[in-house]
Amino acid sequence: MIEVEFINISKTFKNQNKVVHVLKGISAKVPKGSIVTIIGPSGSGKSTILSLCNLLRTPDEGEILIRGKEVREWDIQELRRNVGIAFQSGPMIHGTALDNLTLPARLQGKELEDPKKYMDFVGLQEELLTREAKELSGGQRQRLSLARTLVNEPVVLLLDEVTSALDSISTHEVEKLILRINREQGTTILWVTHDLSQAERVGNYTWLVMDGTLIEEAPTNLFFSNPREEKTKNFLDLKREYV
Ligand SMILES: Nc1ncnc2c1ncn2[C@@H]1O[C@H](COP(=O)(O)OP(=O)(O)O)[C@@H](O)[C@H]1O
Ligand SMILES: [Mg+2]
Repeated sequence: MIEVEFINISKTFKNQNKVVHVLKGISAKVPKGSIVTIIGPSGSGKSTILSLCNLLRTPDEGEILIRGKEVREWDIQELRRNVGIAFQSGPMIHGTALDNLTLPARLQGKELEDPKKYMDFVGLQEELLTREAKELSGGQRQRLSLARTLVNEPVVLLLDEVTSALDSISTHEVEKLILRINREQGTTILWVTHDLSQAERVGNYTWLVMDGTLIEEAPTNLFFSNPREEKTKNFLDLKREYV
């Protein structure tokens, strides 16, 4: 079953009267329950692809189907409950960890029944709930941010460089957590990362985006062991030189 489908997506931005084509006809399918890792140079359009999936932005052309239904036909609240997003910085509101965790529920005029359950799930101690969010470590904040996203039990999870501000131990912990979410809840994941070894470790499929174009998409092991496209080979070689 296909959970997310991009059909010939284009997106332009206008920068001081200059029109920039950020996505130039992206088509791809994401099978339900899979993890797609998305790599590419910075500025190539990766974050823009994610932002179209929950209507933080809208495409100029083309369609994005989530569970067969075009994003603009979804009720936006329902879409955003179903399609969760988490960012590098794990942005927090002022207040405690609990204030942050209960935010999605409060936005919907509801109460979060069992905050502890979500803390447990992401490996955070219950005692941290009363702590000011800004006092948490980077790794704790990123886990709290994921917990907050998970409260809605999204069927699709969009991850934008979620570990790039973390040290290697926290990165590993957060990776394990995300893999568990994928395994236990069957969550479909689009995971943008600039860390090639992470893309290779966690992905079922990998996409290379360059200059708004999907250069290559393949099962992750094939993508890294036997890329088809010259541009993919060059990109992988270049990145590996600098590791
Ligand atoms: N709101 C915006 N207005 C104008 N240009 C933007 C906007 N958002 C992104 N861009 C441009 O779109 C391009 C792709 O950005 P982005 O999707 O963030 O790339 P990536 O995540 O791959 O680094 C970049 O050139 C960026 O400057
Ligand atoms: Mg980005």
